[in-house]
Amino acid sequence: MNSTRKPHAVCFPLPAQGHINPMLKLAKLLHFSGFHITFVHTEFNYNRLLESKNSSSSSQNFADDFRFETVADGLRPSNQRGILDLPDLCVAMPVHCKQSFKQLITKLNSSSPDIIPPVSCIVSDGVMSFTLKVAQEFGIPEILFFTPSACGMLGYLQYQELRERGYFPLKDESCLSNGYLDTELDWIPAMKGIQLKDLPSFIQSTNPEDIMFNYNLESVQNALKTGSLILNTFEDLEQAVLDAIRVKFPTLYTIGPLSMLQKQLCGQKLDSIDSSLWKQDMGCIEWLDKKKARSVVYVNYGSLVILTPDQLREFAWGLANSKYSFLWVIRPNLVNGGTEVISHDFLEEIKNRGLLIDWCPQERILGHPSVGGFLTHCGWNSTLESICEGVPMICWPFFGEQPTNCLYICNKWGIGMVIDNNVKRNEVEGLVRELMEGSRGKKMKEKVVEWKEKAERATKPGGTSYSYFNLLVKHLKDNLI
Ligand code: UDX
Repeated sequence: MNSTRKPHAVCFPLPAQGHINPMLKLAKLLHFSGFHITFVHTEFNYNRLLESKNSSSSSQNFADDFRFETVADGLRPSNQRGILDLPDLCVAMPVHCKQSFKQLITKLNSSSPDIIPPVSCIVSDGVMSFTLKVAQEFGIPEILFFTPSACGMLGYLQYQELRERGYFPLKDESCLSNGYLDTELDWIPAMKGIQLKDLPSFIQSTNPEDIMFNYNLESVQNALKTGSLILNTFEDLEQAVLDAIRVKFPTLYTIGPLSMLQKQLCGQKLDSIDSSLWKQDMGCIEWLDKKKARSVVYVNYGSLVILTPDQLREFAWGLANSKYSFLWVIRPNLVNGGTEVISHDFLEEIKNRGLLIDWCPQERILGHPSVGGFLTHCGWNSTLESICEGVPMICWPFFGEQPTNCLYICNKWGIGMVIDNNVKRNEVEGLVRELMEGSRGKKMKEKVVEWKEKAERATKPGGTSYSYFNLLVKHLKDNLI
């Protein structure tokens, strides 16, 4: 086949696990639909992929028409320790990545078109909107993919107004603890009555120059100029919120859950390509194989959460005291201050029923019949993956749009229960019991299976996500973006 005839999409995620995963799924789907793919990692992450040796594909290109390239992220080596310093990244990227990305596009476009067709479109992370300028300079169409939930996106879309109405910055630190964050807002379409504490958390700052607030504000303001957006959600799940977003983004491609759509369209064809930044412990699958159906609690806080030793201790003893089996992923560097609180006593107590590991193949774990519930930080990928496997949740949101996801999980979709931010072992123990054997747990299980079925319908031929994906492919191929 003459590769010059192929459209060429450059896919560029924010260099964090929760952004790389959905972008990679989208890239695979586009590849399946006939695109030549260049997937862009930062040099730092690419080296991590090589080190983790999770798959052969991380060390070599998957196919002639699915290639990896790298750009510089501009982070100082002292910041590259495996914990991502998001504010540093947000300062460094628009300068260093932008330059490096420009050079990459020049390189790709000056390659032999028989091997690498000219770049025909850029699919960039919504929080990498500095790439829009690069695309403009080269005259290449670009579309942004916001990887969080639609409810999170609608929250970020309020940042400008929150500033204008004086909610941001907070007047002083006391606002964080005196009930001020319970203030209800009545002017957000589709979110009437939402409390300040439920909005993406970067508004909880007294600093008008707060890097994360301003970075996210700028990202959505840039995105608004494009009028179009890709979201990893499905219409049934977030209908009211999506209607509100469509007022600002008339062309919205809701193509999620991407993991389901990918399975639906590509089967296992592209499974060998994986981008896990940590080495996955596969032994936990055998451990789960020996457990009874729906008897294990799975605990994971994603790639960015940082716990204090106290929080770790409370989670640990809450899980132990519940007497349930649990698989607990304690990522290296999860705890600021070390994991010494995981004591000999604790390990004795959980012998034979608790397994602690560094990192796991999460989607396989959630799909394992032994898993009955998920204690999660409500990252959007984790949330969707839980829905796709019909697993109810206990929610401990940490930052970003996780509090918004949590509100929807617990109050709108009825598939989770929240743990107080100031986590205590008794509450963990009680909620785990309720999740695994209580009447609320049973109801949540029924509800999450209903949502799973709706997600399946959305991603099957004729479903909304399936149709929006086909439309996206058509628009990208016809240069209508
Ligand atoms: C972050 C934010 O938390 C999230 O809210 C935002 O929407 C995207 O960026 P993260 O905190 O890492 O992501 O959480 P999440 O969105 O859940 O993504 C984590 C990804 O890593 C998931 O796809 C999950 O399957 C994967 N993972 C996590 C593993 O494969 N193994 C693990 O042990 C842990």
